[in-house]
Amino acid sequence: MLRIVVCVSGGGTNLQAVIDAISKGSITNARIEAVISNNPGAYALQRAKDHGISEICISPKQFENRERFNQAFLEEVNKYQPDLIVLAGFLVVIPEIMIRQYPNRIINIHPSLIPSFCGTGYYGLKVHEGVLKRGVKVTGATVHFVDEGTDTGPIILQKPVLVEEGDTPEILQRRVMEQAEWNILPQAIDLIANGKVSVEDGKAVIANV
Ligand code: GAR
Repeated sequence: MLRIVVCVSGGGTNLQAVIDAISKGSITNARIEAVISNNPGAYALQRAKDHGISEICISPKQFENRERFNQAFLEEVNKYQPDLIVLAGFLVVIPEIMIRQYPNRIINIHPSLIPSFCGTGYYGLKVHEGVLKRGVKVTGATVHFVDEGTDTGPIILQKPVLVEEGDTPEILQRRVMEQAEWNILPQAIDLIANGKVSVEDGKAVIANV
């Protein structure tokens, strides 16, 4: 059974998609051990509570500096001995010590087709604002392993979504979530839980499904 810790900062619709996929059996061999938020007001924490999942809030604001926070955050995660850490809208930079301790065991959902509209400064609505500003016709979402860079790790799954005339960042964000994120995040977790993802030569490889 794959032990998962999900890290969140906001509404938690991706967390909900994972919880639902586990309940209905489209993710197998996996269990969410805990949900960790940096934001005490995150609705994602309520979603965890509603499903009887341990929920923890740990914020950089509670610590005198980032190093102390990083240490405490890592200790909190380690308590649950996760096989996989899922960043589902987690807006805190993952400490390097954690990345070294969990190589190819941290995944992130990003709301664009990496390598477009990603990297420092591209998160949440800002991604969709960038897409509309540039006028691209296709966007989407990406699930990738987390390495030391920002959105640079091996890509596991991607799904395209069409940009439509009259889109606002909010409308586009919702479509990308509905058509891409809520599908590929649970799918990636199921593939990992069933031993179907490996990393070769810096690239994620999916076994025949
Ligand atoms: C999602 O769109 C996710 O892709 C994005 O934050 C949103 C969280 O929504 N993540 C990033 O931008 C990471 N760079 P949710 O809390 O409703 O799942």
